[in-house]
Amino acid sequence: MRAFKKRNSINISLFGMKNILVIGATGQIGSELTMELRKRYGNEHVVAGYIKGAEPKGELKETGPSVLADVTDFDAIETAVKTYNIDTIYNLAALLSVVAESKPRLAWKIGIDGLWNVLEVARMHGCAVFTPSSIGSFGENTPHVMTPQDTIQRPRTMYGVSKVTTELLSDYYHTKYGVDTRAVRFPGIISNVTPPGGGTTDYAVDIYYAAVRGEKFVCPLKEGTLMDMMYMPDALNAAITLMEADPAGLKHRNAFNIASMSFAPETIYAAIKKYVPDFEMVYEVDPLKQSIADSWPDCMDDSCAREEWGWKPQYDLDSMTVDMLEKLRAKLNK
Ligand code: SER
Repeated sequence: MRAFKKRNSINISLFGMKNILVIGATGQIGSELTMELRKRYGNEHVVAGYIKGAEPKGELKETGPSVLADVTDFDAIETAVKTYNIDTIYNLAALLSVVAESKPRLAWKIGIDGLWNVLEVARMHGCAVFTPSSIGSFGENTPHVMTPQDTIQRPRTMYGVSKVTTELLSDYYHTKYGVDTRAVRFPGIISNVTPPGGGTTDYAVDIYYAAVRGEKFVCPLKEGTLMDMMYMPDALNAAITLMEADPAGLKHRNAFNIASMSFAPETIYAAIKKYVPDFEMVYEVDPLKQSIADSWPDCMDDSCAREEWGWKPQYDLDSMTVDMLEKLRAKLNK
């Protein structure tokens, strides 16, 4: 450990290297973010923080350090930060929107009590913190088309309540204590490595697995349900680019609208059917998912992110579909 710390401190002073802790490193975003950060900053500089029962496996485990870092355990987070000389924390621990409705107390404990632990450790040890917000931070009375950066946020889901609180608490730690907190409001994230679980936007991932497996897809949302979505490479790039941005350019911090595509179920179905002609989809609406989706924006205005730190997505629905189908065919041997 001593050698690790020494090597890092030399790197920090000579090359401006970072030492990063990813909390939630085995989740949907964390598993890919950790690998992307290791590519950019060096394997030994990015520590995969996990919880019991969700230990890192495969390349995540083999390529770099990992540590037990349950966000609800202040001592565990502080020990990880001290041990690895951490200066930047990506805090991805959260329950997604649907599962949070059945476990609201746990969603709060992870999302807010956990965030408090992270922010306190960051304040004491001088770390920058990224804790994502979401399209879920908006509610029914938010303008749904081109949702502005600064607008009404009165969500009625526990997921949304915890995300709005995340934004406020993160800004509070910045203005009161000078902690370098920054974040984006992620749309639904589409990926092919680790599946999401318990979210309203999960259907846009599940639909690709069904298409590649040759199964009929049962869509839980009705035709015309528009939501912002984003391909994982763009989401990772957003998080890292924002954390690297010159703070002088940031008028906002927690959290920036980012957008790349907005679609309804029939549109993603048509995009996949172009490449999988016999693919079939039927609708079987889940009332909880539908009511959550209906309360979220149809599409967000991300001009502040574009202006303040140069946000620019690479993927649209068609290029994402081509890549998702290719990657999933290889992964599922289809
Ligand atoms: N993907 C999340 C969910 O569906 C929204 O950010 O819960």
